[in-house]
Amino acid sequence: MLLEFERVDYTYAGSPQPALQSLTLRIPAGKRCALIGHNGCGKTTLFLLANGLYKPQRGVVRWQGTPLQYDRTSLMALRQNVGLVFQDPEQQLVASTVEEDISYGLCNLGLPDAEVTQKVGDAIANFNLSELAARPIHHLSLGQKKRVSLADVMVLQPKLLLLDEPTAYLDQIQTRDLMTQLRQIHATGTTIVMATHDLDLAYCWADWLFILQQGQLVLEGTPQDVFAQRDTLKQLNLGIPLVFDVLDKVAEALANDSQQTDYQVMSSIPESLRNRILDVFRYG
Ligand SMILES: Nc1ncnc2c1ncn2[C@@H]1O[C@H](COP(=O)(O)OP(=O)(O)O)[C@@H](O)[C@H]1O
Ligand SMILES: [Mg+2]
Repeated sequence: MLLEFERVDYTYAGSPQPALQSLTLRIPAGKRCALIGHNGCGKTTLFLLANGLYKPQRGVVRWQGTPLQYDRTSLMALRQNVGLVFQDPEQQLVASTVEEDISYGLCNLGLPDAEVTQKVGDAIANFNLSELAARPIHHLSLGQKKRVSLADVMVLQPKLLLLDEPTAYLDQIQTRDLMTQLRQIHATGTTIVMATHDLDLAYCWADWLFILQQGQLVLEGTPQDVFAQRDTLKQLNLGIPLVFDVLDKVAEALANDSQQTDYQVMSSIPESLRNRILDVFRYG
């Protein structure tokens, strides 16, 4: 287990409702997790607790079995392991140029100049930022800023990468590029948790889902298992990914068809084929 929340409560000052209440959640190593839930269910708050920006008012957060400590040194060590990419890149980017921004965290760690230069160079190449390296941050588009934010975090080689609504400001092509990048990041052994309310994206990409509601974990499991629980999802008013909806609609249409043969064809589709259809929609 990489990161573990045990009965964590967090309420913002002046707020009548807790943002997280008695939240118990375990992030297994090596997975691609999606954290799903309506706006305001506590996804961002969970991330801010995960890298120690907030402290639980009750309960405990553990990193690899050890409760977090909130002194400066411990937090610096934690944040090397747990990288958080904010939803809004303005919260992430601190320096004036792309290159300076990527080197910022490394310089804070007190690494030798040569090593910083080497790592920054690698990150600029890996994240396709060569043309932007010397540019002032405030000249970049939102999509470009998101890419720099990810490079900022990944240059520290965290074991756990937290992404808060990473596709929020991206178009389709940028989203696809991001997913390719995340596949590579995961392939090098980084565990990833992505907060999103995009169920299609969650189905396409994740191998483990956490469903949050009003600051509590209400459902978790593989995408297949979670999305099979239609009644629970309906109660949560969450919907289901498009591909499941399409399969249901086709089956329904054929069931209502007077031409029984079509229905027989559909109902004779074996489970394995249905699963293959579902698989087509997943990023490998
Ligand atoms: N800075 C804040 N001050 C007061 N309440 C907040 C603050 N940030 C979030 N909240 C409240 O905490 C709850 C959880 O918010 P958040 O973690 O941002 O959810 P999500 O990221 O899932 O949209 C919401 O009810 C939200 O209104
Ligand atoms: Mg949020």
